[in-house]
Amino acid sequence: MRKPLVAGNWKMNGLQDTNHHLLELLKKEGIENIGEPVEIVVCPPFIYLAYIKHLLEGSNMKWGAQNVSHHSAGAYTGEISPYMLADLGCHFVIVGHSERRTLYGETNGIVAKKFVAAQQANLTPILCVGESLREREEGITERIVKEQLDDIFLHTDIHAFNKAVIAYEPIWAIGTGHTATPDQAQEVHGFIRNYLSEQDPEIAEELRILYGGSVKGDNAAELFAMPDIDGGLVGGASLEAKDFLTICQAAS
Ligand code: PGA
Repeated sequence: MRKPLVAGNWKMNGLQDTNHHLLELLKKEGIENIGEPVEIVVCPPFIYLAYIKHLLEGSNMKWGAQNVSHHSAGAYTGEISPYMLADLGCHFVIVGHSERRTLYGETNGIVAKKFVAAQQANLTPILCVGESLREREEGITERIVKEQLDDIFLHTDIHAFNKAVIAYEPIWAIGTGHTATPDQAQEVHGFIRNYLSEQDPEIAEELRILYGGSVKGDNAAELFAMPDIDGGLVGGASLEAKDFLTICQAAS
């Protein structure tokens, strides 16, 4: 049985006050009543992780990071190592978000190294994959997603997916309000699961595959009802307490 997961990607938003307020509001609105059936994670900017840890310890919400270095320590000015994230109690880290790929030049190869480095520090990577609008229109969505997965296998093997999450995030749906339809999302989720099950059916069956891209309170339930969608990676709506709570409830 796959336990649903909802992860809020705050991106580069929020300040100490607003973060505090958001988490207080989530608690007040009853996020803790959701309890065990859903794993809930928030991914704030790095510098707030220590503070968020302090606020969330003992609650049902976990915390994670939005990015990580593939180096473990050393002369890498401005970078954050996976061991530092683990040290701050992070369970998860997003790797290969499309904004990292398109704005900061992260290639499939770099993303694969980050994926492996995160696991070495005992973090669970949330590996983002997904196609651009042009790629979808050209009919090469599956090829693009397959390439994004295949680079991981140059650095590790299928067993790595025992402790990983995949987020399918079509780039054309991120922050645009154009959510993939449940059928469009399911098609790619099913493809990913089938593709990995060629290597190990059990691991593929247990792997959580999240959908991301304009998930909102009013579309989460129909997306999460699809057989291969195990929760969401949520950007904009994770900054709105009511919306995020509705999404977490939809996953339960
Ligand atoms: P969005 O972002 O929900 O604002 O579309 C999702 C993401 O980038 O992870």
